Amino acid sequence: MKYLIGNWKSNFTVSEAHQWIDVVKPKLSPSLDNLSVVLCPSYIHLLLFKLNFPNQVLGMQTCSPFPNGTYTGAVSAPMVKGLVDYAIVGHSERRTYFKESHQDVVNQVAELVGEQITPIIAVDKTNWFGQLSLIDNEVLSQSIVMYEPPEAISKVVGSTGVGSAAPITEVINAITEIKTEFKCKACIYGGSVKSSNIVDFLEHPQIDGVLPGSASLDPNEWLKMIELATAVVASSQN
Ligand code: PGA
Repeated sequence: MKYLIGNWKSNFTVSEAHQWIDVVKPKLSPSLDNLSVVLCPSYIHLLLFKLNFPNQVLGMQTCSPFPNGTYTGAVSAPMVKGLVDYAIVGHSERRTYFKESHQDVVNQVAELVGEQITPIIAVDKTNWFGQLSLIDNEVLSQSIVMYEPPEAISKVVGSTGVGSAAPITEVINAITEIKTEFKCKACIYGGSVKSSNIVDFLEHPQIDGVLPGSASLDPNEWLKMIELATAVVASSQN
């Protein structure tokens, strides 16, 4: 299985999300069985997708570390059950700007797995061992790990292609090490992925997928990445 997971981050009004759907929806052909195409828009767009684009598999960009209850402003895993199948946790932007800790990520992952939502646990070269060691093996086997060094993340969100992805050898080495130490469901890469480099990452058998951020905001770029990912997966079946 290969994964293509888009992360819209903190972007798009409802009408901008509508415009994106209007471009993408009519051009999509049914996905291959062994390619999972997932989009993580803001919470405010989840229902819009469910109503206007029900075939799009959805994820969210973080999750409350708490269950339902008196946690003002938080969106819990039980609240989004049935809306999303995946959730990114531990993204470096959440850790930096919202001060989410390793323990928060452990709690988020437990909340998600309890609702059969697959966590996508973001780690980088300095924290992956410590972070993943805190997560129960059984829970980790149901989670996707994303290697994403913060310096590879595009800094100007909205303009495709501005960031420099991590070198492919660094990504392969990191993913190989992570897979040797921990048994996760899949291990993917994120950081300045776009149509011009997606094939380099997806082609490698160790890399189970990619998570483009800025590039997923451009509907034509998203369609191009789906087309390229489909070609890589189709050719590996032959
Ligand atoms: P980017 O973002 O593709 O814009 O670098 C990836 C991410 O941080 O999720």
